[in-house]
Amino acid sequence: TVEQRVTALLGQMTLEEKVGQLVQYSGRELTGPASSRKTDLLNSIRNGQVGSMLNVKGVADTRAIQAEALKSRLHIPLLFGLDVIHGYQTVFPVPLGEAASWDLDAIRLSAHVAAKEAAASGIHWTFAPMVDVGRDARWGRVMEGAGEDTYLGAQIAKARVLGFQGEKLGGADAIMACAKHFAAYGAAIAGRDYNAVDMSEQQLWETYLPPFKAAADAGVATFMNSFNALNGVPATASSHLQRDILKGQWNYQGFVVSDWGSIREMVPWGFAPTVADAAQKAMTAGNDMDMENDAYGPHLAQLVQSGQVRVALVDDAVRRVLRKKFELGLFDDPYKFSDDKRERNVLRDPQHLVAARDVARKSMVLLKNENHLLPLGQQRTIAVIGPLGKSKRDLAGGWTVIADTAHIVSAFEGISQRAGKKARLLYAKGSEITGDSRAGFAQAVETAKAADVVVLCVGESWDMSGEAKSRADIHLPGVQEELFQALKATGKPIVAVVMGGRPLIFNTMADQADAILYAWFPGSEGGHALADVLFGDYNPSGKLPSSFPRSVGQLPLSYQQYNTGRPVTKPTDITYKSAYIDELNTPRYAFGHGLSYTTFRYADLKLSQPTMRPSETVQVQFTLTNTGPVAGEEVVQLYLRDLVSSVVRPVKELKDFRKVMLKPGQSQTISFTINKDKLAFYNSQLQWTAEPGDFQLMIGSASNDIRLESTLVLAP
Ligand code: IFM
Repeated sequence: TVEQRVTALLGQMTLEEKVGQLVQYSGRELTGPASSRKTDLLNSIRNGQVGSMLNVKGVADTRAIQAEALKSRLHIPLLFGLDVIHGYQTVFPVPLGEAASWDLDAIRLSAHVAAKEAAASGIHWTFAPMVDVGRDARWGRVMEGAGEDTYLGAQIAKARVLGFQGEKLGGADAIMACAKHFAAYGAAIAGRDYNAVDMSEQQLWETYLPPFKAAADAGVATFMNSFNALNGVPATASSHLQRDILKGQWNYQGFVVSDWGSIREMVPWGFAPTVADAAQKAMTAGNDMDMENDAYGPHLAQLVQSGQVRVALVDDAVRRVLRKKFELGLFDDPYKFSDDKRERNVLRDPQHLVAARDVARKSMVLLKNENHLLPLGQQRTIAVIGPLGKSKRDLAGGWTVIADTAHIVSAFEGISQRAGKKARLLYAKGSEITGDSRAGFAQAVETAKAADVVVLCVGESWDMSGEAKSRADIHLPGVQEELFQALKATGKPIVAVVMGGRPLIFNTMADQADAILYAWFPGSEGGHALADVLFGDYNPSGKLPSSFPRSVGQLPLSYQQYNTGRPVTKPTDITYKSAYIDELNTPRYAFGHGLSYTTFRYADLKLSQPTMRPSETVQVQFTLTNTGPVAGEEVVQLYLRDLVSSVVRPVKELKDFRKVMLKPGQSQTISFTINKDKLAFYNSQLQWTAEPGDFQLMIGSASNDIRLESTLVLAP
């Protein structure tokens, strides 16, 4: 068995070789020109002092470096890890965009395609999915997650893990996944990356941990800890998170890798006086592998010899790493079936582009559509205007690996191919994404005047979201909203297509544009997916996975608000209420919002019983009907509120959802099951408990568009 093989190997290893398995370095230099770093790394690899490399990719390079590792005394293969976040060569929408699809199959397929391409390119391990709940759009990394909601985030975490890994580790088309960043990184104070987090245990367990638990339950092979300190302790040094919760209560058998440099960062945090001490703290706290810290390599053996780290902890960490190498099949084929031919074939598979286009169009969210301006059809002249109109690179978003940006389909290309001979296309850039030059406005206005409709492509550039890309101001950057106003003055109908890696603020456009489509960064097939939606070949079905604020001052923002003791019941009466004197409490666009070209009727809500005992379940049923002219998908959302409880509860919590496709006139009975678990929360003793009493049950099309309501009673 794997366990026997691990034990046998461990028995032959010296302390230095054990430490080597816990060391990971970045290897960009390995494939570059001669340098001392290159020589040192190669020597370390040959000496068995490295267990894993990141940033080495491609069959040729991974094979060459693996061959060096196999020269080591025990011939232990390396693990090759890489940030395959939303696609490898084929670029899928950024993860926050994919989350807007609420389509778990499409999301799983996206991860599977990424894994297939990466595996064929010699990669064994991706540092994804990021399952951090993010409620502060200033934080650049909201782009990499699944948004603000714990339940949706947990479902997506599971889908992504299964997509990357398959049902069982070891398939030729699969790679190990990594649930990151453990934990609470998404709650960095003021949305500033790498910042501290201060959070109650209750909030941690209830909001931030469930997506990690879902990933662990789905079999995720690895975890990555995080850069933040949580309640005063850097996560990398947190025994509470790594030993007590993850490896203790959850009995997690995979391994934990540090984030890049997060061990040595304990020094500037003021938590460890030296890197050696930081290494001691990290190992003691359950951090198994050191990513690019130079902490375990130089210090861990010495820490064991001096009695500061128990060898049993090192053995346990090494066992965890070796177990994954065996499960992956690396000891049987260290090159993991990767060869040039397979790499070429897989990376050229046209089905991957089909999958990318499908999830891209599913991820787009129709925020507004006055007078049925969309879908386009009748217009003879279409003006594509804006700095993102012809951009290719931006559509890939951040964290792309080998994206072939020259082949990304731009908005202009997608629209022009779809329009064909039926419409004439005009183009003007109008402005840059950032900066204050209005020099292009005049030409953009002239272009708009000559058209029947304007498709204005605006947003962030690809490098304005992601790691270290926090923004204090999340308005549409530069003069893009002014450009919108100049175009609006022409009287031409305007469809705003907004691209970005986070919720953005664009209040003027929100008020005055005729239609708004939020397209995120849609990936390789972005322009085609956009055209599919704009022309109605695909009826939009995306729903926001994050609330869009009206003002930065509302952040952090989530639909999961508390009622407070002084709720605002009438927006006109806020005197001594929990409100802002200069802004509404409500978001500009609510969590779960997204329009369609058709309409849906929700009717006939029935509960199998109005009261349930804790051991029972209740079936909630209703009929959904497509009452509009075209086929379409609706994401029906089930929310609950515990009306009175021993700790205050949010006014709404998502507990289930379904994505349903209906033809015009077609009806379907939708049913949800409510069990005790759906009614439970962490009480002040941190017990997961459902307290008897009344629960408000809400079913709707968005968190602010509830169509059916009822009360459910939990009996003692
Ligand atoms: O995987 C990432 C992590 O999310 C942020 N720091 C760097 C790691 C490796 O590139």
